[in-house]
Amino acid sequence: MLILSIDTSADETSVAITSERRVISHVEYTQIKTHSQWGGIVPSIAKRAHAERIDYVVEKVLKQAGKQVNRPLTAADMDYIAVTYGPGLAIALEVGIIKAQELARKYGKKIIPVNHMEGHIYSSFAQNSNGAPERAFHFPFLALLVSGGHTELVLLTDHIHYQILGQTVDDAAGEALDKAAKMLGFGYPGGPIIERLAEESANKDYHRFPRPMLRSKDLNFSFSGLKTAFLYGTNKMNDQEKASKSRMYFSSFQEAVFDTLVKKTDKALEQTDIKTLTVGGGVAINKRLRELLRNLLKKKRGTVYFPPYKYLTGDNAAMIGIAAYYKLQKGITIEADQTLDRVPRLSLEKDLIIR
Ligand code: KG4
Ligand code: ZN
Repeated sequence: MLILSIDTSADETSVAITSERRVISHVEYTQIKTHSQWGGIVPSIAKRAHAERIDYVVEKVLKQAGKQVNRPLTAADMDYIAVTYGPGLAIALEVGIIKAQELARKYGKKIIPVNHMEGHIYSSFAQNSNGAPERAFHFPFLALLVSGGHTELVLLTDHIHYQILGQTVDDAAGEALDKAAKMLGFGYPGGPIIERLAEESANKDYHRFPRPMLRSKDLNFSFSGLKTAFLYGTNKMNDQEKASKSRMYFSSFQEAVFDTLVKKTDKALEQTDIKTLTVGGGVAINKRLRELLRNLLKKKRGTVYFPPYKYLTGDNAAMIGIAAYYKLQKGITIEADQTLDRVPRLSLEKDLIIR
């Protein structure tokens, strides 16, 4: 059973072919260089770049999959077409949806609409074409989602049944890292830049920035006060000081963001008495965050899963194809000519298609 999946929610034009949990082929065309000069994603530029690349990416992924299975493949050989319909940038999402509908109509296929964040949850269960790693699903489990647009703690009681236990009330964790890097005049995206500089500073917590919301009983996050503390801490410095002290500041800032993530995750695991955690989203690639979460789950004698291959942490269509497979098991498909609107603020709890 083959699914061709498309994700154009932000700045990656990505298409994959999956079979159940196995990724047969995956192609993505990143626009990071185009957007980095603007210090963030410019929606109109993203839309145009997606539109220019999407046909090429679809063709390439089919060709690569053909090599994997030793026979030429076309879209006609697919069983379903999956596509991200939210959350994300409206005009960017639209490019993927239109392409999915076009392929579905042309080849008489049904569409599986997928929430980008459920893709990030399922990314930890992706397998290569040989079925590795095996990782079984043990419900209930918790998912910590940390990306540029989202910070969420999600409870899964079954496939595609999500309950959001906590989320950010302002900035997302990745967004906070991006903004801090920008404040000191470093590039976009800030997450990887801060990771590198913090590592050079031995991930030490020199400044002890505030840990927002830790005293609150709920499981929500807030990073905007921390961002302000960072701004106050650094804005009196001249350029030379910024350059010489940036490692210390970034290291401390990263520690504050991650400490908050870890402590809230700890609280969520305690409250639910759950011992299995999955982590997804662009920030999940960070080695320091992984170390802290591994330590936490070790202490609790539990298990933590990260996406098993690097390309699965950032945005990619492979995770969309995998989530689509489990939606299909619940009978969630739509006809090619049915209306499928993009939902830029789509929530995991308000998936219009399934409820
Ligand atoms: O999941 P993603 O690729 O896109 C969204 O759906 O938002 O996440 C992008 C976020 C950005 O904020 C970026 O700075 C962050 O992931 N990120 C990192 C690292 N690489 C990317 N954060 C921390 N450490 C990294 N190495
Ligand atoms: Zn994402």
